[in-house]
Amino acid sequence: MPSDQDTPRHIAIIMDGNGRWAKERGLPRREGHRAGAESVREAIDACKELGVEYLTLYAFSSENWNRPAAEVKALMALLDRFLDEREKDLMRQDVRLLAIGQIERLPASTRKRLDRLKEKTANNRSITLVLALSYGSREEIVEAARSLATDAAAGKITPEQIDNSLFASRLWTGDIPDPDLLVRTSGELRVSNFLLWQISYAEIVIVKKFWPEFRQGDLFEAVNEYRRRHRRFGAL
Ligand code: FPP
Repeated sequence: MPSDQDTPRHIAIIMDGNGRWAKERGLPRREGHRAGAESVREAIDACKELGVEYLTLYAFSSENWNRPAAEVKALMALLDRFLDEREKDLMRQDVRLLAIGQIERLPASTRKRLDRLKEKTANNRSITLVLALSYGSREEIVEAARSLATDAAAGKITPEQIDNSLFASRLWTGDIPDPDLLVRTSGELRVSNFLLWQISYAEIVIVKKFWPEFRQGDLFEAVNEYRRRHRRFGAL
């Protein structure tokens, strides 16, 4: 395991490759998602061990609504199961749960579970798990712009007051610090509408494995890669 020197404070993960993992095994796609839920547990455990403060997981994108109804249903059922079954673990591991995205688009039963678990874990402090659900970065940025424009039109702020920090405060991520490390599995080199504003200075590590194969050691390796890079924030 890596030492705790220069541990990323916030890791964000694009969990990609569930479908291909299942296809390779002649299984339905939902089996890939089911196996992927196990990797979620591994990622949380690894982050806890490293002392990472925030872990954001891209669990369901705005575009995922366009998948076949049966797959969307299976993903929502998995999420419900995760929220039902992980409560004890999250409390034991002192994990605070947050969610970002167009949460209002989720089924009412899922929203209820989410609200309950967010409330239950609100005082946990070891690590914050942020689930990106029905999440799209462009939608998030448009909402932030609209809320600032509304305030400006109402005379509550002047256009000159809009700066990086005011803009960032209107994003769904609010006061969550920006990710230091973005991990994407399955070897794809895309950002896929995920945290576009927030990853401005993040290191990006691409892991070849499909998400269901992702284990704690893969996260440690990604963090080691992060540590090897010289982070300059555009300066010398
Ligand atoms: C991408 O694989 C993954 C998703 C769309 C869903 C991610 C969901 C999980 C890992 C399980 C549930 C999560 C929680 C938090 C319980 P893909 O289907 O796009 O794979 P492909 O590119 O190979 O088709």
